[in-house]
Amino acid sequence: MSILLTGGAGFIGSHTAVELINAGYDVVIVDNLSNSNEKVLNRIKTITGKYPKFYKIDVSVAEDLCKVFNENNITGVIHFAGFKCVPESTKIPLKYYRNNLDTTLSLLEVMNKYNCTAIVFSSSATVYGDKNPVPFKENMPVGGATNAYGRTKLMIEDILTDVAVASTDFSAVLLRYFNPIGAHPSGLIGEAPDGIPNNLMPYVTQTAVGVREFLTIYGTDYNTHDGTGVRDYIHVVDLARGHVAAIKYATEHTGVEAINLGTGNGSSVWDVVHAFEKANNIQIPVVIGKRRPGDIDECYASVDKAAKLLGWRAELTLEDMCKDSWNWQKKNPKGYED
Ligand code: WQD
Repeated sequence: MSILLTGGAGFIGSHTAVELINAGYDVVIVDNLSNSNEKVLNRIKTITGKYPKFYKIDVSVAEDLCKVFNENNITGVIHFAGFKCVPESTKIPLKYYRNNLDTTLSLLEVMNKYNCTAIVFSSSATVYGDKNPVPFKENMPVGGATNAYGRTKLMIEDILTDVAVASTDFSAVLLRYFNPIGAHPSGLIGEAPDGIPNNLMPYVTQTAVGVREFLTIYGTDYNTHDGTGVRDYIHVVDLARGHVAAIKYATEHTGVEAINLGTGNGSSVWDVVHAFEKANNIQIPVVIGKRRPGDIDECYASVDKAAKLLGWRAELTLEDMCKDSWNWQKKNPKGYED
């Protein structure tokens, strides 16, 4: 029995592959490598001793996906494949709708054909929008995403909900990630964004390693304890372990559940910069800039449902995240391109 990871060569997917293999699962990765690197597969082998089965395909091509299901006994799917750059999604929304929805619809049709009824979906806290009070709870109203990327996540949550209502044996767990950062402690796999990073931690680590001259802090006038944006940063290894618990839950239950994957703690941009400097004894040059359009003041998770349903809580600290992020970046200054 195998778990299929669509987009499994990416940042979250590769860390989830490691934790699934460590938990005794067989893993099959499908990825078109549009935003990932095949070198990660050897790194997973070095970490776990097992080379994951890999198919370089586009999930939206049903014929290719059928070959994967024909050749493997897929008992559950974790669906990571999709474009995920917020600013890019506002510039080329049609590509985001076409890609993120096509891959999902193709996957669901092939799962139905092969009677595979359990899926875990890589969703995002961005579905909560900016009107809810923190901490965000799963039963709060969703919507109000400020970009096409976030709207595709919400649309896919709705698609999975409709399928679960129509098919009583279907099971979907919608994992709403907060802010995944960090890297596997080996430093062999980590976050390797293409081009200029949009997200805070990869920008910090690229500044620390000298690829970037300074970090720009986007706004210091937010309604937070120090004026900079507050987010719920979660170690990617904790997040990956949450996926192991989620796929176990999905294969043992039916119906649809939205579940937050966060720590329940909010950290500001300054908190992250200072924690990184202290953990790694490095100074990060900083420039204060204007707010970034679409950013909200505060975003952090209510974590009780994950504990109750999945028996999972995040355990790693912001210091762990900063140390592991730096360990990855200093060993791989150019990501997987080295
Ligand atoms: C965090 C904080 C910025 C960069 C997004 C998506 C979410 C998920 C994670 C995909 C904010 C500040 C950032 C910088 C800065 N996407 N910042 N200087 O925007 O909370 O979440 O990424 O998986 O769905 O919405 O994350 O890391 O971009 O920003 O000051 O160079 O850091 O203003 O307050 P965000 P982020």
